[in-house]
Amino acid sequence: MNYFAHITGWGTSVPANIMTNADLAKIVETNDEWIRSRTGIAQRHIAEEGQSSASLGAEAALKALKVANISPHDVDLIVVSTSSPEHLFPSTASLIQDRIGATRAGAFDLSAACTGFIIAVNIVAQSIRSGAIHTALVIGTETLSRLVDWEDRSTCILFGDGAGAFVLQASQEPGGVLSAVMRSDGSGGDLLTVPAGGSKLPTSYQTVKDKQHFIQMNGREVFRFATRVMAQATEDVVKKANFTLDDVDWVVPHQANQRIIETAAKRLKLPLERFVINLERYGNTSTASIPLAAVEAITDGRIQPGDRIVFVGFGAGLTWGALLAQWTGPLPVEKPKMWPYRLHGLYRLYVKLRSWGLRIVRLIEGVVWGRQD
Ligand code: UT7
Repeated sequence: MNYFAHITGWGTSVPANIMTNADLAKIVETNDEWIRSRTGIAQRHIAEEGQSSASLGAEAALKALKVANISPHDVDLIVVSTSSPEHLFPSTASLIQDRIGATRAGAFDLSAACTGFIIAVNIVAQSIRSGAIHTALVIGTETLSRLVDWEDRSTCILFGDGAGAFVLQASQEPGGVLSAVMRSDGSGGDLLTVPAGGSKLPTSYQTVKDKQHFIQMNGREVFRFATRVMAQATEDVVKKANFTLDDVDWVVPHQANQRIIETAAKRLKLPLERFVINLERYGNTSTASIPLAAVEAITDGRIQPGDRIVFVGFGAGLTWGALLAQWTGPLPVEKPKMWPYRLHGLYRLYVKLRSWGLRIVRLIEGVVWGRQD
């Protein structure tokens, strides 16, 4: 049987707390005019205490399931793209699986920085097309504010927190994800990095003292790389599906810098009006930026079912890539599964109780069975 992978649900979650350029000017030597003219950013959302990549990602995922009109129990796989995971392990995907009560789902994290959401959607789409899975959640979630050096004006002005999620489902109707390109050049790994905290530079007094747990970036080099690869990846992905740029209704680019997007548009000879841009209000939310922009354009009616959309991103690694999709919208369902959402508060209580129940069972089993050695 031939399956196609359709994007049938979407949701976002951003912290309510907003930091404007004027707020930043109180912390580092910068100003609104410089930030706006060099990046296009006016404000960003910053996670408050208690919010994290898992909490934002879970919120976005539940909203996406609601749009797709399916229950968390229907999800076969959860893939979370993030550069600010809750821990090195367990994966943020597993923590979200528990938070949303997706009892049947496998879960793993994917690390490809700002390109991660595109890669995750592509990998999941291939799994659906192969018939291996039917329904999946792809989540891009970041709390990069926790990795930013708030004394480094060249990076702290750029990043923001947020999450976006897509539901992908199998259908025999043609459409959905049409093609993708994924690229990497690890020789540029040092251009954008959090150097310490991994196996190469484990956490030590010195790594903390040297601020090696914060984002370090060569902005100019990343800028040059980005303007080169964005147009190329867009052209490649369209060609791979045997279309031309004239067949594309929307380009949803990674929201890093207004000037990068404008340069890509110029190179592609596409009017800027066909690009979805919202970085002015969110800053660079890394892997969350593409779903945050896409969902805004779906919600305000710009993106319509049947539209062809190129998602294109670049980031640390170096990584870059693009994905072409024909927009679907929710698949028809025989009987809407509204129960978890009508009883939103109760459902949350249920998943919390379920999680604690499992922990208690594990504790009792440990006491009853004792040590195995
Ligand atoms: O998701 C991927 C992540 N990263 C990116 O996409 C970043 C790509 N790069 C960029 O967006 C740009 O390179 C930046 C926005 C980071 C920097 O813009 P730029 O036009 O490349 O500025 P620059 O680094 O060349 O710096 C120009 C000047 C410097 O002063 P001097 O040496 O010319 O006197 C900087 O010290 O601007 C200064 N500067 C600032 N001034 C006010 C750097 N940051 C700031 C600041 N406020 N926040």
